Amino acid sequence: MLDALKDELLSQVNAASDLAALEEVRVTALGKKGRITGFMKELGGLSPDERRERGQQLNALKDEIATAIDARKADLARAHLEARLAAERIDVTLPTRPETEGRIHPISQTIDEMVAIFAEMGFSVAEGPDVEDDFHNFTALNFPPGHPARDMHDTFYLPDAGDKKMLLRTHTSPVQVRTMLNKKPPIRIIAPGRTYRSDYDMTHTPMFHQIEGLVIDEATNMGHLKGCLIEFCRAFFDVDDLPLRFRPSFFPFTEPSAEVDIGCSRKGGELKLGNYGDWLEILGCGMVHPNVLEACGIDSTKYQGFAFGMGIERVAMLKYGIPDLRTFFEADLRWLKHYGFVPLDVPSMAQGLTR
Ligand code: PHE
Repeated sequence: MLDALKDELLSQVNAASDLAALEEVRVTALGKKGRITGFMKELGGLSPDERRERGQQLNALKDEIATAIDARKADLARAHLEARLAAERIDVTLPTRPETEGRIHPISQTIDEMVAIFAEMGFSVAEGPDVEDDFHNFTALNFPPGHPARDMHDTFYLPDAGDKKMLLRTHTSPVQVRTMLNKKPPIRIIAPGRTYRSDYDMTHTPMFHQIEGLVIDEATNMGHLKGCLIEFCRAFFDVDDLPLRFRPSFFPFTEPSAEVDIGCSRKGGELKLGNYGDWLEILGCGMVHPNVLEACGIDSTKYQGFAFGMGIERVAMLKYGIPDLRTFFEADLRWLKHYGFVPLDVPSMAQGLTR
């Protein structure tokens, strides 16, 4: 009789198609009101000899069924896992996603490249507002009120609001002032950003970009300025022997001041950068004027340093052969597709700048 029960229970175990069905089988056989449990309860009414024999048989049956249930449980779990693995299969040999449509604008790319080079030299990035006041854009930079150099900037003035004269910054140099007012030397920053002048033709747009550099400490001199800019230009334009020429110039906020030309050739109407005897102006620089240091609360008998400012569109046009400045801001997707950069080509000194 127990043999028949055994066969019946084993076939139920093997027929259970999931964990819930298997649990039901277990309860029917081994649960408190289960069939084997039921027989166990009847042992009390038997004689001692019968009880021992029957008890052994029932225990053996109970173990066999429990073992069968465990084995079935493991089978079901394995089958479940295999089904999942098959369903979630990933073909790692598939090609990568198609290239994204979006492009990084050449201005953003150029700024990223510049930041990568200067970061390597130990500069950090500083920022200032596009809407400035007269003090930061001019007065603190040693442009006294009524100074003729103010007129050279074609400033956009904003409608009067209170006692401060507000304007759109005409250069990134006010970030020098903000930085010096806010932190103690040593200072080593660059400040890329938008600048504005009321001017529009082949080579001027009312909004354009500059990058400012400022180094202030107790020992930095003109030699450091030259070394820094030579190093930068050679890395940025990727021309190892690119010659630089420092020409005396004037800015109210630097003394001495210089404009920097890089070597080029214009033979056959084609512009090439390198040691070819011709020159092209790319930036302004100089040693920070003591009046500027004092206006920013820095002791000019103890501290000194250099500053430079460069037009970003101009060097981007040179590097990437973009012929017309105005196209930068026309938001023409065909132009962006042609001159823009793939978002994954992030410039870095370790992985290379864009060529
Ligand atoms: N701010 C100057 C300009 O816009 C450039 C410059 C910056 C010159 C720093 C010297 C030092 O022309």
